[in-house]
Amino acid sequence: MFKYLKSRRILAALTTMLTVSTASIAQDPAATGEGQPSLFYTNTTFVIVLLLCLLFMVIAYLLYRVKSHLDKIIDDQTEGGRELTRYERIIKPWLKTLNPTITSLLIGTSFGLVAFVQGYKFGMTEVGVQKGYSPTQPINYSHKVHAGKLQIDCKYCHSTATKSKQASIPSANTCMNCHKYITLRDKYDGKVSPEISKIYKAIGWDPEANAYIPNYKQKPIEWVRIHNLPDLSYFNHSQHVVAGKVECQTCHGPIQEMDKVSQFSSLQMEWCINCHKERSVDVANNKYYEDLHKRLKIEGKTVYTVADNGGLECGKCHY
Ligand code: HEC
Ligand code: HEC
Ligand code: HEC
Ligand code: HEC
Ligand code: HEC
Repeated sequence: MFKYLKSRRILAALTTMLTVSTASIAQDPAATGEGQPSLFYTNTTFVIVLLLCLLFMVIAYLLYRVKSHLDKIIDDQTEGGRELTRYERIIKPWLKTLNPTITSLLIGTSFGLVAFVQGYKFGMTEVGVQKGYSPTQPINYSHKVHAGKLQIDCKYCHSTATKSKQASIPSANTCMNCHKYITLRDKYDGKVSPEISKIYKAIGWDPEANAYIPNYKQKPIEWVRIHNLPDLSYFNHSQHVVAGKVECQTCHGPIQEMDKVSQFSSLQMEWCINCHKERSVDVANNKYYEDLHKRLKIEGKTVYTVADNGGLECGKCHY
C-alpha cells in the first residue's frame, strides 16, 4: 500500500474530501435544520467523520488485498488461449488505472457521509425532535372533554405553569376533586367507567364504600412525557406565561380540541429564536417592565422584541 502514499496526492484527496463533506452537509436540509447555520457541525463532528473515513479506507484496502489475491489464484489456475470476457477486456484494465488509495478514500468518504447523515437523523429523533409525537397514555384522558367541553382552566391542572419552570402534570388527587363523584355509571350499565377505575386503583379509592382504602400503597399514574427539551437547554413556563403573556396554545396548539395530546411545535432552537425575533414584549402594560418602559419612552422606542431584551443570547437558554 505504501508505494501509493505519495504525500501530494494524499493531500489533494484529503482536500477534496474536506470540500465534498462540508459542501454536502451544508446542503443537507436535515443536517442544517431548514436554512439555519448548523451548530451541530462542529470540529468534534468533523473529527468523527474523518475517523469514520479512515476506518472505511482500511476496510476498502483489506478487501482490495483479498480481491487481488483471489484474482491471482484464478489467473494461476486458468490457462491462456481462451477468449477474454467483457470484464477482462474493458473493466479490468480500467480498474488498474485507478489509484487504490484515492479510490478507497473516495469510497470511504461516501460511506462516512451516509453514516454521518443517518446517524444525525437518528440522533435528532432520539433527542426528542418529535413534532406530532402522541404516545398512548395509561389512562384514556381527554383534553377535548375536560379543557374543551367542560371548559376547565388549563391552570387548574397545570397549576405550576404560572409559578415555576415546569407546568407539571396534575396528581391523581386533582382528578379526585371531581371523580370522587363522577363515575359515569349510567354510561356503563351501573359499573364504574373502566378508565376512571384506573384513577381509583392508583390512589386507593373504593367506589362502592365511597371511601379511601386504609393503608393502601398508592402508585402514581405513569403518564408518558411528550414535550421534552434536551438537558442543555433552559426553558421556563412562568417567564413565558406570566411575564411574556404567551398563550399556552401558541406553543402547544389547540390542546382543548385534542382527545390525545400530540406535540404541536418542533421545540427546536430555531423555533425559540424565530419567536424571540418577531415577538414584541408588551412593556407598557406589564409591571415586570416598568423601569424598562420609562427608559424606552425617553429613548423614543416603540417596538421592543424579546431579542432586543437579550432573548438571543446563548447563555439565556443554555446553562
Ligand atoms: C383536568 C386536568 C387538566 C386540564 C384542565 C388540562 N390538562 Fe393538560 N394534561 C393533563 C394530564 C393528566 C396530562 C397528561 C396526560 C396527557 O398527556 O394527555 C396533560 C398533558 C398536557 C400536555 C402534554 C404534557 C407532556 O407530557 O408534554 C400539555 C402540553 C397540556 N396538557 C396542556 C394543557 C393545556 C394548554 C390546557 C388548557 C387548554 C390543559 N392542558 C388542560 C391534565 C389537564
Ligand atoms: C413559549 C412556549 C410555551 C408556552 C407559552 C407554554 N409552554 Fe408548555 N412547554 C413548552 C416547552 C418548550 C416544553 C418542554 C419543556 C421541557 O422539556 O423542559 C413544555 C412542556 C409542557 C408540559 C410538560 C412538561 C412540564 O413542563 O411539566 C406541560 C404540561 C405544559 N407544557 C403545559 C403548558 C400550559 C398549561 C401552558 C399555558 C399555561 C403552557 N404549557 C405554555 C413551551 C410552552
Ligand atoms: C373539574 C372536574 C373534573 C376534573 C378535575 C377531572 N375530571 Fe375527568 N371528567 C369530568 C367529567 C364531568 C367527565 C364526564 C364528561 C362527559 O362524559 O361529558 C369526566 C370524564 C373523564 C373520563 C372519561 C371516562 C369515560 O369512560 O368516558 C376520564 C378517563 C377522566 N375524566 C379522567 C380524568 C383524569 C385522569 C383526571 C385528572 C387528571 C380528571 N379526569 C379530572 C370531570 C373532571
Ligand atoms: C411564541 C413565542 C415564544 C417562543 C416559541 C419561545 N419564547 Fe422565550 N420568550 C418569549 C417572550 C414573549 C419572552 C419575554 C418574556 C420575558 O422577557 O421574560 C421570552 C423570554 C424568554 C427568556 C428570557 C429572556 C430574557 O431576556 O430574559 C428565555 C430564557 C426564553 N424565552 C427561552 C425560550 C426557549 C428555550 C424557547 C424554546 C424552547 C422559547 N423561549 C420559545 C416568547 C417565546
Ligand atoms: C431562545 C433560546 C435559545 C438561544 C438564545 C440559543 N439556544 Fe441553542 N438551543 C436551544 C434549544 C431549545 C435547543 C435544543 C433544541 C433541540 O432539542 O433540538 C438548543 C440546542 C443547541 C445546540 C445543540 C445542537 C442542536 O442544534 O440541537 C447547540 C450547539 C446550541 N443550541 C448552541 C447555541 C449557541 C452557540 C447559541 C448562541 C448563539 C444558542 N444556542 C442560543 C435554545 C436556544
